[in-house]
Amino acid sequence: MPQPTSEPLIELGAPCLGEPEKQALCAVIDDGWLTMGDRVRRFEKVFAEMHGADDAVAVHSATAALQLSLQAFDIGPGDEVLVPSLTFVATTNTILHSGATPIFVDIEGVSCPHLSLEDARRKLSPRTRAVMLMHYGGYLMDAARWREFADQHGLLLFEDAAHAAGMRGTGTLSEAASYSFFTNKNMTTAEGGMMIVRDEKRRQRARVLRAHGMTASTLDRARGRAVGYDVVDCGHNYRMDELRAAMGLVQIERLLGWNDTRRTLTAHYRKIFARTLPSVQVPFKPDHETSAHIMPVLLPEGTNRHQVMERMRAQGVQSSMHYPPIHHFEYYRNRFPGIVLPETERYCERELTIPLHPQLSTGDVERVVASLGKALEA
Ligand SMILES: Cc1ncc(COP(=O)(O)O)c(C=O)c1O
Repeated sequence: MPQPTSEPLIELGAPCLGEPEKQALCAVIDDGWLTMGDRVRRFEKVFAEMHGADDAVAVHSATAALQLSLQAFDIGPGDEVLVPSLTFVATTNTILHSGATPIFVDIEGVSCPHLSLEDARRKLSPRTRAVMLMHYGGYLMDAARWREFADQHGLLLFEDAAHAAGMRGTGTLSEAASYSFFTNKNMTTAEGGMMIVRDEKRRQRARVLRAHGMTASTLDRARGRAVGYDVVDCGHNYRMDELRAAMGLVQIERLLGWNDTRRTLTAHYRKIFARTLPSVQVPFKPDHETSAHIMPVLLPEGTNRHQVMERMRAQGVQSSMHYPPIHHFEYYRNRFPGIVLPETERYCERELTIPLHPQLSTGDVERVVASLGKALEA
């Protein structure tokens, strides 16, 4: 058994929180209006502007955003949606909840683990209605190329942009993009999400669906803007509250700076790996546009990842994996048996996610690489 270290723990990810967040939360309490008020509206406007969009819709998670996107565009039973298996399970659970069928598409390869256009073409059928892109690790997919593919085949294009908050180029070419503010994301509201929907009518539909399909909110009625309300669609309670929006407004001011720091740390990782541990590969080209949400690396083939993770933990370094492929989960195996995605499986066998967040120092990066080197040697 490896001996535990006395060095401080290097966490996989860590939210940047402080006095401004505390003050923003206290101000909401002092004001006394707790949900779907002016802060939520302001947060939507600021987020939209950052992404070059006309407007945005705040919701309580990216999962809610994904679900609303599909519903706002009438994706449902009988429809097929092309989707990666290398993603978080919310991407495909929401497709199932819509009543549509996820069709798993392989990735290009281990050095670019993005959805393969070639495999997507092979998986087209008369029932294909949409493609769901996922900007894995914040590394942007080529939205223009996928827009062309979608238009060629009369498909809708959606983006799971959970990893890509702050990235221009998301939310502009698709029907709808969904962002996450979960605790481990590049900015956080604890739980929270945002949708960018280009078409104004569909965006309005998503807004109405967010709150039970009602035509007026509690705030509208409190402010005298509406007396009663009608219900015009079968919606949900996917609302965002003012506490989350208040945190979001503070966090978004620092998001682009944090993304820069993440990219700088990623570049340092690449340099240190090339110099000291070239047997470990870093996917994607160094100049690939990214929010640097996570730091995925590929272990040498045949490595016992579980053992490596335990040895790194004993040296005070957390690690994880992104992701176990969805088509291997029990529920999905039972429902969609016999799926084989060779490139996805090869990638998932070797992938290890190492710490990356703005509070790391370059010294921490070097310690992480050294701990991985030791874990591999042992
Ligand atoms: C790729 C991806 N999609 C969707 C989600 C769901 O986000 P949320 O937790 O905000 O619902 C996540 C969250 O981890 C994610 O990583």
